Amino acid sequence: MRILLVASAFNSLTQRLHAELRERRHTVTVQLAGADEELRAAVRADAPDLVVAPMLRTALPADVWSALPCLIVHPGPPGDRGPSALDWAIHEGAADWGVTVLQADAELDAGPVWAEASCPLPPLAKSDLYRGEVSDAAVRAVLEAVARFASGTYEPQPQHGPGWRAPDHTRPYLRQETRRIDWEREGTEAVVRKLRAADSQPGVLDELLGAEWFLHGGHPERALRGRPGALLATRAGALCRATADGAVWLPELRRRRSPGGPATFKLPAVTALGSALPHLPEAPALHRDDWSDIRYAEDGPVGLLRFSFPGGAMSTDHCRRLLAAYREALERPTSVLVLGGGRDFFSNGIHLNVIEAAADPAAESWANINAIDDLVEAVLTTTDRLTVAALGGNAAAGGVMLALAADEVWCREGVVLNPHYRLMGLYGSEYWTYSLPRRVGGAEARRLTEQALPVGAGAGLRSGLVDRVLPCPPQEFGRQAARLARLSADSPTLLGRTAAKKAAREADERLRPLAEYRAEELAVMRRQFFDPAQPYHALRTAFVRKQPGPGV
Ligand code: COA
Repeated sequence: MRILLVASAFNSLTQRLHAELRERRHTVTVQLAGADEELRAAVRADAPDLVVAPMLRTALPADVWSALPCLIVHPGPPGDRGPSALDWAIHEGAADWGVTVLQADAELDAGPVWAEASCPLPPLAKSDLYRGEVSDAAVRAVLEAVARFASGTYEPQPQHGPGWRAPDHTRPYLRQETRRIDWEREGTEAVVRKLRAADSQPGVLDELLGAEWFLHGGHPERALRGRPGALLATRAGALCRATADGAVWLPELRRRRSPGGPATFKLPAVTALGSALPHLPEAPALHRDDWSDIRYAEDGPVGLLRFSFPGGAMSTDHCRRLLAAYREALERPTSVLVLGGGRDFFSNGIHLNVIEAAADPAAESWANINAIDDLVEAVLTTTDRLTVAALGGNAAAGGVMLALAADEVWCREGVVLNPHYRLMGLYGSEYWTYSLPRRVGGAEARRLTEQALPVGAGAGLRSGLVDRVLPCPPQEFGRQAARLARLSADSPTLLGRTAAKKAAREADERLRPLAEYRAEELAVMRRQFFDPAQPYHALRTAFVRKQPGPGV
């Protein structure tokens, strides 16, 4: 079938559906919603059998949905309507949720239902759930709806009438007044729930040190206590604030936009507050239940180095801390080292927001790319044990290349990879000119980097980008990856494989040293960073401020 995806942004779910539908041999094109004339032109040009709208912030024009079937993906069960569906579910502590695929109609989210799928809602942040359980359910529901449509015999079911079990209600936009935290009265559980319901957008509006900030994300603290509302400590760039009965970690802040002022963007909390932050003790994570963005564990011969950075963005500081943890892990007597293994983003490369906020963005870009290159180099040159990159969530740009530095790349089914830099106006580094062609061949490496399209886990497996796809729910991925790593470590072939990889690395180094790949990549990147006329700067500014880019 010819399917036109219409979305307000080519976001993770749209990218995943793009990959899944192409995988099933449909012809898929994408059109951004908002500009109605462009949408009409795309409909005329592509002549689709069906429109699927995975994520819409604006309604489709009536002449489009009345001329051909338009299926809307609503992140809520049938009967649930309104623009803040998932926010309300998390805000109210729902344990189960669902996704409905319905036909566009005059009333928002009220059209007949083509398919639905349910999903668990573990107590986690909204964007993590959206890219995990909710996306899994959305893919199941869309594929079922598309198959039903293709059958030509299925009648979509009206949302009311006899036998319809779901409550029928439209919930309003979840406003800041409802999200607001009362630090004096609310306990950690309630505060974390509010923070999770507002992650990654719009955040919770709050006051900190006399200024207005949006709080983005939050994790419960185990031991620290203080006067409710007081700032207690810092850890890994996050801020600890006391609640009525405990404390929470606030990883990122975004300053409230002043009237007429430029758009603001999220930053690690300590960076955002800068010199306004009074001295606070740095509280290291000491206990296995303490929140931290990097943690190390062992299961016999397997080392597990987990990391999880908001938005998958890795600043100079993140890269340096992860490299230090990696080096420490190498000191341990393990034979398999797993990198990642968490839920959500593996990595999306250098931290464009931190770079944007820096006094000298070119110099910060340079520091960041060198820091991530150092990390990638450490993985590439690990020859005494097997390394595995375990991707429970998506990766892009340098984040994909970080994964490719490992001997094996394991992905959860449903992961989307964007192994390219072109859309950010960059040539890229992270030794990609060594590791990408080595895995997929020169022609495929060129195609991936030039076409700049998302790659699903299945396609990645076929091209050699990925070695293993784990079909499991997001909550299971870490355990499954650890179990498989244990099997690899116990395998009688491991010693031979490790010796062979050491020999292969040495042979590659003789052919062309890694330092040469890096120097050549960085020579291009240096020009792109330090020449203000290069498109990278305008593209980065637009990306972090969520504005339309100048186009590439
Ligand atoms: N630096 C800073 N923030 C980043 C980031 C990066 N490299 N990559 C992603 N993010 C942030 C996004 O701004 C977004 O923030 P929000 O929560 O405030 O909305 C969040 O992470 C999730 O990303 P989003 O773009 O909404 O997810 P997506 O699944 O729709 O798209 C990408 C994922 C990776 C395709 C897209 O974010 C992207 O192009 N990132 C930039 C990749 C890049 O060029 N890296 C630098 C070169 S190494």
